[in-house]
Amino acid sequence: MIISRNIKNVVNIIKKVKSKKKIVGFVPTMGALHKGHLSLVKTAKKDCDFVVVSIFVNPTQFGPKEDYKKYPRTFKKDKKLLEREGVDLVFYPTVKTMYPKDFSTYVQEVFLSNVLCGDSRPGHFKGVCTVVSKLFNIVKPDIAYFGQKDYQQAQIIKRMVADLNFGIKVKVLPIIREPDGLAFSSRNMYLDKIERKQATILFKALTLAKQLIKGGIKDSNIIIKKMKKLILSQDFAKIDYIKIVDPKTLRDVEKIEKKVVVALAVFIGKTRLIDNIIV
Ligand code: PAJ
Repeated sequence: MIISRNIKNVVNIIKKVKSKKKIVGFVPTMGALHKGHLSLVKTAKKDCDFVVVSIFVNPTQFGPKEDYKKYPRTFKKDKKLLEREGVDLVFYPTVKTMYPKDFSTYVQEVFLSNVLCGDSRPGHFKGVCTVVSKLFNIVKPDIAYFGQKDYQQAQIIKRMVADLNFGIKVKVLPIIREPDGLAFSSRNMYLDKIERKQATILFKALTLAKQLIKGGIKDSNIIIKKMKKLILSQDFAKIDYIKIVDPKTLRDVEKIEKKVVVALAVFIGKTRLIDNIIV
């Protein structure tokens, strides 16, 4: 497995790989890898001849009061996991490499980015679109892999790839969960024992929503109210948002008549967790 921190080096490797007509798969990550990330890597390995994983905690997608500094950085462990999966190349750039002093260009999607997490985290998706654009231009993958865990992010990336003619196939893969339902997330590391237990309430609330919808309840407000009540039964939980939205536009759906996404962001103590379910 090649590990490179250098853009030119990666560009040259990819050039050689592509000259052999190999299919390049790409999994962008911020590291602190878990089974969710690895499921993307495994699928990329199946689909592609050459798999690239990037590990970069991207400062531009964190707000000034967010957890950029304390975000877990576990490169040694990540490296071992990726080696085991048979990854071909790990791109592990420094902040200076990605954002040199004179950096002044950003990529912004303006329709899907200002709702849900975009509403609570202004500028977040601008940072995501910018870094993913840069990574796409460096790695030039044929297929890029994203998780449904970040449903909104995946939709925004798809939009950006179409709008800016990146010519990359974007695959969105299912959420991988712990046995008790909690979605794997690098931020789960922040939770203490009690919080970790209470964090299962996110998936329980989504499961409740699914049951209610399948049971014929069409009024989103009724469902959201019941979810709120359930979540707030946990004393460390504080709701950022609970939304029932159209899977394409991400706009609120009042009356449920076709496929919807139930999405939520909840603080457990100081840790903000997100999750969603497609019903
Ligand atoms: P990160 O949070 O490290 O996630 C990398 C990828 O793993 C994302 O596509 C995310 O949706 C996926 N993922 C995370 N948890 C998952 C789970 N439990 N099941 C399935 N997939 C999961 O998302 C980012 O990094 C960054 O915003 C990035 C795209 C790398 C840009 O900086």
